[in-house]
Amino acid sequence: MARLQINAVSKKFGADYAVREVSLDIADGEFLVLLGPSGCGKSTLLRMIAGLEEPSSGRILLDGNDITQEPPQRRDLAMVFQSYALYPHLTVAKNIGFPLKSRRQPRATIAERVREVAATLELSALLERRPAALSGGQRQRVALARAMVRDPGAFLMDEPLSNLDAKLRSATRAELIGLHRRLGATFLYVTHDQVEAMTMASRIALLNAGQVEQVGTPEELYDHPRTAFVAGFLGSPPMNLFPATITLVDGELRVRTDGVDAPLGIENRSGDGTAVLAGIRPERLRLNGIGGAEAAVRGQVTMVENLGSEELVHVTAGAVELCARAARPAGVRVGDDVALYIDAADIHLFDPETGLRLAWQAPDAAAESHPAAAPLAAPLPTEPPSDVTAVSVA
Ligand SMILES: Nc1ncnc2c1ncn2[C@@H]1O[C@H](COP(=O)(O)OP(=O)(O)OP(=O)(O)O)[C@@H](O)[C@H]1O
Ligand SMILES: [Mg+2]
Repeated sequence: MARLQINAVSKKFGADYAVREVSLDIADGEFLVLLGPSGCGKSTLLRMIAGLEEPSSGRILLDGNDITQEPPQRRDLAMVFQSYALYPHLTVAKNIGFPLKSRRQPRATIAERVREVAATLELSALLERRPAALSGGQRQRVALARAMVRDPGAFLMDEPLSNLDAKLRSATRAELIGLHRRLGATFLYVTHDQVEAMTMASRIALLNAGQVEQVGTPEELYDHPRTAFVAGFLGSPPMNLFPATITLVDGELRVRTDGVDAPLGIENRSGDGTAVLAGIRPERLRLNGIGGAEAAVRGQVTMVENLGSEELVHVTAGAVELCARAARPAGVRVGDDVALYIDAADIHLFDPETGLRLAWQAPDAAAESHPAAAPLAAPLPTEPPSDVTAVSVA
């Protein structure tokens, strides 16, 4: 059992917050990924959970017990760092067995446990080698094995794959997913790599400047970003975001700016004139070549990037620059005039001041959740947070 509760935890270095009032409730057996740009406080948060750094305020609970003041070795947690930190003079077997040896376990027990863990991670043939004679991926597995040997309730991992090349990364990623499934342990995993986050996480907590922007499944964050920051962080290339104005035309609201004119498909007079930050994902911008009567965007191709299976088509339209992702060949060239089509349901709207997502729904969705009710009440209110991150501590 390892449920981790992080309750309003902050860490200040001097006058600056590295982590600010972060609350997370991580269920037993969950694979939670802490994601965010460099310097947003991921490592600091993980180190506080591991006991390597003392919080300035807040509490950390493991299975309901307050461990905020416990020394690292008394927490039932194992940490795997970005740099493997193996002992160079010890063999792989001794490296893996080290946590048990320092806990004065009998020699036979250690040998048995090292054999088991090494077999799980396919290290059995390497037990007598020293770290210098291993590949990066093998060293990474030794570091993992050393964390696993104690059978901890939870694993804390800080960018464990960042030293691996692309191929090894994806292989080790798959291994970690399998390992998590087999062990059923709680994984708290730090990365700034969104592919790792999207593929491995049961939930992602996206951090920005020491604070949690959004917590949810990878799908929730991708499809329903709560803030413009989340929208702009996830996705490669990220969501197109541009300032626009909600404009009432013939009783219908449209998203407009110089270069873009897209119907929202809703009638709501009170929304007229609202300044917004509009967003559309590159894969949702449909490129239909030249012509078309209801194109939301008419512009010119400024660049075409070949990704192998797909192409990224960069388009300038009025004051807006957009990136569309299309199957290859997209059939357009630099300088071509193109029309782009947007479905109302694919448009995301954010408050330009606060960055918060604005509540509005495309006609289909609206019909389901607002049956016969008045149209949207306030002029495009911001959405309440969908995720509850606060932990109540008795
Ligand atoms: N010991 C320290 N003293 C002062 N400032 C620190 C210390 N450790 C971290 N910081 C600052 O706290 C902030 C968060 O750092 P942290 O290492 O947690 O970021 P991170 O999200 O892990 O970044 P990265 O992705 O680059 O590893 C940064 O601005 C960093 O400079
Ligand atoms: Mg870090």
